[in-house]
Amino acid sequence: MKDDNRPIGIFDSGVGGLTTAKEIQRLLPKENLIYFGDSKHLPYGDKSKEVIIEYSTQITRFLLSKNCKAIVIACNTATANALQEVRKLASEKNVRVYDVISPVAEKVAFTFNQNVGVIATKSTISSHIYKKYIRKHNKHIAVHELATPLLVPVIEEGFTNHQISEVILKTYLNNKKLSNIDSLILGCTHYPIILNEVKNFYQNKIQVIDSPLIVASHIQQDLEKRKILSNSSNSTYEFYVSDLTPTFSKLAKKFFGAKIHLKVENIF
Ligand code: SIN
Repeated sequence: MKDDNRPIGIFDSGVGGLTTAKEIQRLLPKENLIYFGDSKHLPYGDKSKEVIIEYSTQITRFLLSKNCKAIVIACNTATANALQEVRKLASEKNVRVYDVISPVAEKVAFTFNQNVGVIATKSTISSHIYKKYIRKHNKHIAVHELATPLLVPVIEEGFTNHQISEVILKTYLNNKKLSNIDSLILGCTHYPIILNEVKNFYQNKIQVIDSPLIVASHIQQDLEKRKILSNSSNSTYEFYVSDLTPTFSKLAKKFFGAKIHLKVENIF
């Protein structure tokens, strides 16, 4: 087997992509990871397509300059708006691009679920990307979409397991658009941070999809297939942010331990 110890680059608007990064690290502990969190510009969910493309391509250039072998767009909003542009840039250097929507949509399309709910940012919901991707594989599934724009700022401000997240979540999940669902996709990488709060609301009555696990397994299988897994015995985790926030430092340390390299990088 050919080894490839170049890092995997992962990016998001803030802390959300850490949920995907953590799962990649759990399944692929020998991989070196470089993470970019664009906390200066979050949330992406209420920005225009043009602006999201500009931020996403700028971050991609940065990750390519770090010699990444693959790039993970660990942000649903960036995937919905800038996937093609990121792919184009990366393909010039022969670098793979993974997104957080297509593996989840494909998996859900081949389960027994018939009424799938999706909660996500305004931008992701208005793109209808989950509906399009799921129904491309299975036309019999009804997809019920709801924009939940307050959740990213609440999570970034650290108001999780808190009366603020509880009230906002309850109000959103009680929306009649979600009244018939048998499963729910958390269509924003920030939302797994409040997974337990979502599960508590539903009390096991529906299936809450584990998106980070599905995405990380997909990446693992693809790297294996291409024979470009790392064999590092001492993997490194570098974190760059465009603005350092207390929630980012706290979560990065919680997920990856105290010995992380965390830097503020002004790439814009
Ligand atoms: C955001 O920053 O608004 C959203 C992140 C995501 O969609 O995953």
